[in-house]
Amino acid sequence: MHKPFQAAPDIHVLPSFLPMPGAGFLPINAFLILAREPVLVDTGIGVESEEFLRSLESIIDPKDIKWVWLTHDDSDHTGSLRAILELAPQARLATHAIAALRESLVGPLPLERVHALTLGESLDVGDRLLRVIRPPLFDNPMSLGFYDEKSGALLSVDSFGGLVPSPAEEAGEYEEKGLVSGMTAWATLDSPWAHLVEKGKFQDALNQVRRLDPKLILSAHLPPAKGMTEQLLKVLASVPDAEPFMPPNQEAFSFMLAEMAKAQG
Ligand SMILES: [Fe+2]
Ligand SMILES: [Fe+2]
Repeated sequence: MHKPFQAAPDIHVLPSFLPMPGAGFLPINAFLILAREPVLVDTGIGVESEEFLRSLESIIDPKDIKWVWLTHDDSDHTGSLRAILELAPQARLATHAIAALRESLVGPLPLERVHALTLGESLDVGDRLLRVIRPPLFDNPMSLGFYDEKSGALLSVDSFGGLVPSPAEEAGEYEEKGLVSGMTAWATLDSPWAHLVEKGKFQDALNQVRRLDPKLILSAHLPPAKGMTEQLLKVLASVPDAEPFMPPNQEAFSFMLAEMAKAQG
């Protein structure tokens, strides 16, 4: 894991950068929103759980967390979920009801602490409303993000993610060409259905983001993007026409494993 940093005065990022042999890094972010009722968004990856908890404790006493917003029940988001629910006994788990039920198949989950989120609603966290949104691209139908009316940040779940050449604290640090190709690669990998959609309908989904006009996009898989909404929407608009992602075959996978072993020394 990398050191936590602030994306805004009341928004901390808990970042990780997963090496992707031959393709740079995949950022994996959790966020801590210091609302009057503090909100932890996602819980990192399980293999880094100890480090994740230490990073979190460097910012907040976990027992002060009032909400754990689980964007969806993918393993790159649920790593320390149970540990945090134990460390934060007051916290409620805000998530898609079916994501909670499915996650309860992985291991015990206190379903009585779930606050089921749905579209058209907002979560009141004391000093602000978090308006529930469905991100324009997603790899899991349970994906729910939010628009933070106080900070102007959009929590976009897996959408607006990208493979990046190096760790960074702002998406604006990357040169445009690399950012576009990394975001396109990620989008075609994560949302292969984007090639099947009616483009007008997909554009409507992008326009919903455009109308919110977020100042800051917080993707689980890209460093925070400040003042880049229009630029990033243009990248997503091109995804349906991009070349579809092909899963690595056995030869390519063996190469990836060898590269990973080399990187780990
Ligand atoms: Fe996902
Ligand atoms: Fe993800």
